[in-house]
This record gives sequence, C-alpha cells and structure tokens, in this order.
Amino acid sequence: MNKDAVEAKPMASLFHPDQVLKISGTDLLCDLDLTNDEVAYLLDLASHVKRAPKDYAQAFAGKSIGMLFEKPSLRTKLTFQLAIGQMGGDSVFCEGPIGVREPLKDIARNLDRWVNGIVARVYAQTTVEELAHWSSVPIINALSDAYHPCQALADVLTIREHFGSLAGRKLAFIGDGNNVAQSLMLTAVRLGMDFALGCPQGYLPDPDVVAQAEGLAAVSGATIQITHDAGTAIDSAHAVYTDVWASMGQEQEAAERKKAFHNYQVNEELFSQARPDAVFMHCLPAKRGEEVTDSVMESSRSVVFEQAENRLHAQKALLLMMLT
Ligand code: CP
Ligand code: NVA
Repeated sequence: MNKDAVEAKPMASLFHPDQVLKISGTDLLCDLDLTNDEVAYLLDLASHVKRAPKDYAQAFAGKSIGMLFEKPSLRTKLTFQLAIGQMGGDSVFCEGPIGVREPLKDIARNLDRWVNGIVARVYAQTTVEELAHWSSVPIINALSDAYHPCQALADVLTIREHFGSLAGRKLAFIGDGNNVAQSLMLTAVRLGMDFALGCPQGYLPDPDVVAQAEGLAAVSGATIQITHDAGTAIDSAHAVYTDVWASMGQEQEAAERKKAFHNYQVNEELFSQARPDAVFMHCLPAKRGEEVTDSVMESSRSVVFEQAENRLHAQKALLLMMLT
C-alpha cells in the first residue's frame, strides 16, 4: 500500500487549519522562543502544508502582516509575501533603516493599528527586541546580525525530507560563526543532530549562544564540536553547510575575511571528506569561488533550492502557529 495514503488521514485531522497548535510565546526573536515540542510540531505542520496547500487557502483571510526590512532580501521577502497571499491574507512591505525617520517605538505602534504581525529583517538584535517591546502584535525575526531562525527551520525540514530523520545525523557548518550558523546550531542540536563548526580563529560564534546550544545538546544527547580544522568538522557529516564569508553589514571587511577564510572553501576535495551520501547546503545568496565552488553548488548532492522552497512551507507553518 502507498505509505502516503496510510499517513494522509491522521495527518489531515492532526493539522486541521482551525486546530493548529499555538506557540506559547508571542514573538520569534530568536530560535529559543520556540520550545522543542513547538519546533517538532512546526516541522510536521510544514510537511502537511507543503503536501496540501489548498487546505490552508483561507487560513489567513482578513489578516495581514507588515514587513520591515533594513537589509536586502530575495528569499525571505518573497516567501513571506507568497506564504501570506497563498493563505488568503495580505502583506505590506517597507525597506530602509528602522528608527531614523521616526523613533522605532512610534513605528511599532503605527503598524500595531494596521497589521496582525510584523516580520522584521534588521541589523541589531536589539531592534527586534525593541519592536517586540512596543508592539502588541507578534514580531518575527527575518534575520538579524545574531540569528536567522526562519532559515534554520527550513533547513532542518530539508534535511529531514532528504534523510527521513534528524536525530543522530551530523551537520557540519564550514565558515563564519555567524547568524545562520548560530541559529542552525541551536535548532540542530535540540533535534538531536550532532553539530560541528569548522571556523577560523577570530570568527567563532557568540560564547553565550554556544553555552545555550550545549545545554540543549545535553538534553537531546547531541554533540557539538567547534574546531579550526575544516576537515575535522566535515568528517562523516550528513549535511555540509556554508554561508558567505562577509555578511550584510560587513562589506568593508570583505578583503580581510577572504584571507582569513581561504582554507574554508567547500570545494570538491573538502566535500569528499563528508559521507558519500552527504548533501551540500547554503542559505543563499552564495558567492561562487569564495565559500563554495560552482561545481559543489551545481552538483547533484546540492539541496540549496530545496532549502529555498522550504522557506515558503516552514514560514506558512510558523505564521499559522503564531498568527491564526
Ligand atoms: N537565505 C535568505 O534569507 O535569503 P535572502 O537574504 O534573499 O532573504
Ligand atoms: N549571513 C548572511 C545570510 C544571508 C541570508 C547575512 O547575514 O548576510
């Protein structure tokens, strides 16, 4: 019998659009604003939404979100707009510095009157925290200098789809201990995945975030390895992840970072040290020839566009859990 046919019934009743589990907090400012159970539920809901998008076509009818972006975006902007539109809601978008033309606390209290939730892409983490303080509607962090929680959710969904499970798999992140790495570390280890970071000296993640991840790993039984040797990090990995060496806002450090990271390129030689069935992952946009070669990006083991697609489904699940 077709396995999907067996699963379809219980899944459909578990994820009825009117009975979606609500998240316990108000905002998603960092990954830890979701509990382990909420992440697990979100992944299942995202899979269901992906399989049966029409079931949710009216879930957002009459609702709207405001999107405030201080930094450029392709994937995050378009997938949030599509997610809301495909569920019958509306979005409005505003790009530019937050808190310059008028105080942040006024911006938050204007949007409050118009929308049901705010999706914000910012430089400082304190900007989303302040928005949350002044706003009565939920705030979703759509990337800050510290975290990228929406990306991490789509990424673990992608790994689960590919391998069928997460616990016991190894995720190796090669490169900067940045926002994407920090969110992935927190999200992966709470789901029981081993996490290894291969990172040059001076570009380690925030020690407080590492300590939080170690706490989560102690509960789930996952391991965390942080090393300056890319080969050690990548050894036996199921998924090999990298991101740009200079993130948005670090453009002036690009030349210096290029030197610091030159041994951390994910090329065919380094990638061959992972498991033979390992997948290559990148949040995108990628700089081919820097953190990854064109051949690895374009290889049959690259799942970068699956990740991009899953941004849509994971964010639909998130919006359903936060705003309906
Ligand atoms: N991965 C990601 O967040 O892409 P954008 O910067 O294009 O939104
Ligand atoms: N670390 C990158 C991620 C882009 C999606 C940045 O912050 O620019």
